[in-house]
Amino acid sequence: MPASSKGEALIAVSPLPGPLGAEVAFDYNGEWDDDTRNALRETFRRYHLILLRAPGLLVAKQIEVIEALGLEPDRWRDGEKFGFLSNNLKSAPNDGQHSAYLYHSDLMWKPEPISAISLYATAVPSEPSPTFFASGVGAAAALPDDLRAQWATEQAMFLIDFNGGDTRYNEETASPEAPRATHPILLEDAISQQTSLIIDSLFMVKIVGKEGEEGESLRRRAHEYLYDTGNVYRHDWQVGDLVVWNNVALQHARENLPDGGERTFRRVSGTRSGGISGWETNYKKAQQAVSGG
Ligand SMILES: [Fe+2]
Repeated sequence: MPASSKGEALIAVSPLPGPLGAEVAFDYNGEWDDDTRNALRETFRRYHLILLRAPGLLVAKQIEVIEALGLEPDRWRDGEKFGFLSNNLKSAPNDGQHSAYLYHSDLMWKPEPISAISLYATAVPSEPSPTFFASGVGAAAALPDDLRAQWATEQAMFLIDFNGGDTRYNEETASPEAPRATHPILLEDAISQQTSLIIDSLFMVKIVGKEGEEGESLRRRAHEYLYDTGNVYRHDWQVGDLVVWNNVALQHARENLPDGGERTFRRVSGTRSGGISGWETNYKKAQQAVSGG
């Protein structure tokens, strides 16, 4: 299916089976023209996740994908626009980590979360180590009208205390300086121009004004829509896969990694208004990754 009439000859777009995502194919290491960039942007806007099977993808081209989406690449601690996530790479902030990451969107605990994240697989274990993507915009669209109306004015607090990703954060036990932010639970996503249900499993500590069971009940109800198998895409990685996803429209998660085998991704992310590097803040707080693909 063509992404646009102009881009038809340049970029092949095949929707992935399931609720979100599309695989694209084009001459990724060649020169891209405006039609190619526009086709990428429109595909991303529509499907929220792009998969490119791209052996030998140059790092400059991975950065160019984020720029083609109209985003400013986030800077890593060393000032570079890319870095590595790995369970077996000394330079990676999560070196040695095998633990699961509960569903989340990166930096939702900041006033402006990251807009888009790309991971390029350079090594994967022989055993499956998928990343799961749940659609916030799919969940919001599936809500019955009465629930959507009730939730339209609700806000939630998101918090990170830098203690890994497999246990939900807790406002009661978090350190006072733990960064936090409040967002509408039905958040307008600037890229897709759709509403996303952003109640996650990791960072959301409370619905504002709904303490205790009332808030927890709302959270459970939201998760029924979000994590329904029909609302989730599972990506099983191959070396050379580039996956780019909308971090506001989708949440991501992983299970515990298999015992053996390196799992390394080259990561480039971008933020819509540019200039915000959540990674910088993160490194100052702790030498632990907030992001597990
Ligand atoms: Fe993450």
